[in-house]
Amino acid sequence: MSEIRKVGVVGCGLMGSGITQVAAASGHEVVVLEADAAALEKGLGRIRGSLDKLVEKEKIPADVRDRALSAITSADSIDALADRDLVVEAIVEDLDVKKDLFAKLGAATKAEAILASNTSSFPIGEMAEASGRPERVVGLHFFNPVQLMKLVEVVKAPKTSDDVLAAARDFAARCGKTPITASDTPGFVVNRLLVPYLVEAIRMLERGEATKEDIDTGMMLGCGHPMGPLTLLDYVGLDTTLFIIEGWHRRFPDDPLFVPPRTLRDKVAAGELGRKTGRGFYAWEGDKKK
Ligand code: CAA
Ligand code: NAD
Repeated sequence: MSEIRKVGVVGCGLMGSGITQVAAASGHEVVVLEADAAALEKGLGRIRGSLDKLVEKEKIPADVRDRALSAITSADSIDALADRDLVVEAIVEDLDVKKDLFAKLGAATKAEAILASNTSSFPIGEMAEASGRPERVVGLHFFNPVQLMKLVEVVKAPKTSDDVLAAARDFAARCGKTPITASDTPGFVVNRLLVPYLVEAIRMLERGEATKEDIDTGMMLGCGHPMGPLTLLDYVGLDTTLFIIEGWHRRFPDDPLFVPPRTLRDKVAAGELGRKTGRGFYAWEGDKKK
């Protein structure tokens, strides 16, 4: 099985910063590549804040935080990923942009490197073909917030080799996560069930059947969910959710579950993306609802 020590992460947004953190905290040396300097600063700040919080709550000792921080370097050129054993992509949920990145990663990384995508909804197989080495490509789908959520879906695309699948499962386990193996189908296991539920909550709000607070309280107290669906939509990002549902609607136009709700489009057009912009269905201050 391929040994993974040197990790690259592309994108230092909500997910990329979390993946960088858990990989570094579990002993990997991580290079994080981000296209936007302000997003990089914000992402690195999130990593420091999260590690400080974990030390404060005695979840990790201070030396693990310090080692993790010194194991992370940032870069703005893909050349910095040339010696990586594994590169995890966590950029915007746009298939064309991701395929373009995988073509560049295929050229810039060593032949035996594993290339992984954290996509929520797109076919790993298409990115794998774009890379020019489809047997070395796998899905590594972490959950938000990466630091706390225990699951990673490891997605086997049509040509993913058994060796790469095993190495990806092992990497997820070393990051302290429980891996499950999923097929390369829309939304894999979790989002195929979760995203239609989330957009149905928006449709319920649009039909005026209950307030957003009552929908959320209903699912928290009625089903034991830690967050109601409208809070979770804000937490995930309304832009990311719209990219997911629009992508599925384009691929499966006859499926009524995948029709993007108007309120979702309107909020994204207005720049109300949820927690990350401070406003979505709710107003947010940092990670907390106001
Ligand atoms: N790093 C370190 N600590 C963190 C943290 C982070 N990133 N985020 C929260 N914490 C800490 C909080 O600061 C808090 O600490 P205190 O007790 O000292 O205040 C503690 O963890 C608990 O957090 P909260 O009090 O904010 O709230 P909570 O008890 O509800 O837990 C939660 C937070 C774990 C996020 C929980 O609400 C939860 O599980 N929510 C559902 C999340 C979920 O469903 N995620 C999946 C989204 S879908 C997805 O990811 C897939 C996709 O492709 C879209
Ligand atoms: P985000 O908007 O917070 O971050 C994306 C980052 O990628 C931005 O900082 C952006 O500047 C950067 N970026 C874009 N193109 C780039 C490029 N070519 N090179 C380097 N950096 C680039 O988004 P996010 O929520 O972190 O989502 C990232 C990926 O993870 C998406 O595919 C999303 O579907 C998936 N995902 C999201 C969640 C979630 O709950 N938000 C959960 C699981 C998976």
